[in-house]
Amino acid sequence: MNITVKTGGFNQEQSDVIAIGVLENPDFYSAPLQTIDQALGGRIRERMNLGDFTGKLKTTSWLYTNGAITAPRVLLVGLGEYHDLTTEKVRQTAGHAVRTIRDMGLRNAAVPMPNEATPEMIQAAAEASLLALYQFDEHKTGNDDEDEKKKLESITFLTESDHSQAMVEAAAQRGEVIANGTLLARDLSNQPANYLTPTQLAEKAEAVAEATGLGCEIFDKATLEEKGFRTLLAVAQGSAEEPRFIILEYTPDGEGQDTVVLVGKGITFDTGGISIKGGSGMHEMKHDMSGAAAVIGAMQVIGQLKPNVRVIGLVAATENMPSGTAVKPGDVVTSYGGKTIEILNTDAEGRLVLADALGWTAQYNPKGVIDLATLTGAVIGTLGHIAAGALGTDPELMAKVKSAAEKTHERVWELPLWDDYDEAVKSKVADVQNIGDGTAGTIAGGAFLKKFAEGYPWVHLDIAGTAWGMKGATYIPEGASGYGVRLLVQLVEDW
Ligand code: BES
Ligand code: MN
Ligand code: ZN
Repeated sequence: MNITVKTGGFNQEQSDVIAIGVLENPDFYSAPLQTIDQALGGRIRERMNLGDFTGKLKTTSWLYTNGAITAPRVLLVGLGEYHDLTTEKVRQTAGHAVRTIRDMGLRNAAVPMPNEATPEMIQAAAEASLLALYQFDEHKTGNDDEDEKKKLESITFLTESDHSQAMVEAAAQRGEVIANGTLLARDLSNQPANYLTPTQLAEKAEAVAEATGLGCEIFDKATLEEKGFRTLLAVAQGSAEEPRFIILEYTPDGEGQDTVVLVGKGITFDTGGISIKGGSGMHEMKHDMSGAAAVIGAMQVIGQLKPNVRVIGLVAATENMPSGTAVKPGDVVTSYGGKTIEILNTDAEGRLVLADALGWTAQYNPKGVIDLATLTGAVIGTLGHIAAGALGTDPELMAKVKSAAEKTHERVWELPLWDDYDEAVKSKVADVQNIGDGTAGTIAGGAFLKKFAEGYPWVHLDIAGTAWGMKGATYIPEGASGYGVRLLVQLVEDW
């Protein structure tokens, strides 16, 4: 889908439909709404006066223009109360509107943007429109499904003549770039594990780097052995697929900028290993690389938007499989930084691969490190599919994460990481064990990671609940949400 910007012309617009936002307060009718209402002989007012359409959020109403204006249809789209209008409501409204239009089978839409619309709102509208129309259909071959043929191909933002065309274009463009990074993350997460092995994930990252001018380095198995990524290798040793460690690098022009490191868990399939999972729902573990997907998606956006911060994206990628060569409960492995780990449960593999990645991270002398990982089922019990669990060692960095999350409406909720929890990950035979005592599972994961995230400010986001099955918003589909991309971009841009 493609978004363009054009000045004026509400009356001459050729699109299949003009979709126009309507607030619940009739006093706040925008100029374009008044123009169209006049052209239609007051039929919008009439409908509002009768109470048949009120402007309530996520409601719509169709009007047929019968030649009064060039477009054959008008879709009124409720924006809710003027005083409650937030960027998130704009996203919700845009998502609802484009899905309504798509479901009607229409191909193109025009959206009048009133002068009052801020750059944030225009960006949000563009972003959410693209996010809402996403479908993962690359493995469907048939044309037998009528619904699948429905494709909204283009949206034109119509600006008022005194509205800065350049501002609207820039805001819409930002929205598109950020949405495309999120869509990339969804594609990666939705992709079945036989189409996205660690090797293939690394190739995707390389392609992103190529296209956006990022630096990229991939460590293969031999390199990982040489460099001492023993914990990542331990998780990988049960699989026929080789692991990969991915390094993406964005360096802005000039010197002296802070470095931020983004770290993603990249388990392309998690069977649990020898501590094998139950069968039901196991197929969803193809998305156990959603942290990696968020990092790669964000790096794509960062390569395009070029913020004034150095950003490194790291991904530890492997399958977690049971086999004759697999790592076993009770095995002890040495992490990149030298700490020893007793693996008591091979299904707690995410924290193992992250231990090496977080050890590797220290050399960049980062001012902030954010890891994203589908780490624990427990976080779904705690926060559902609404918010990611946030745990960290640095209040300032945590505040930055919270502020970015607030803006993008990718919710985070902080859980404590007091030293009191360290006891639970103490091992009888090694420096640390990879599971806690069975209580506070998400915090135990954080307490384990904390041992390896030393020497820099660090926040861990447990996205097991938000990466998949979020569905609450009009612009988030079933399956992969692409959670984290927008948040990371916002964080880096606000740095
Ligand atoms: N990838 C899973 C966590 C997960 C569960 C992600 C559900 C998305 C949805 C992770 O590797 C895992 O298996 N965690 C274990 C940890 C336990 C063994 C300490 C879990 O949550 O059960
Ligand atoms: Mn697991
Ligand atoms: Zn996992």
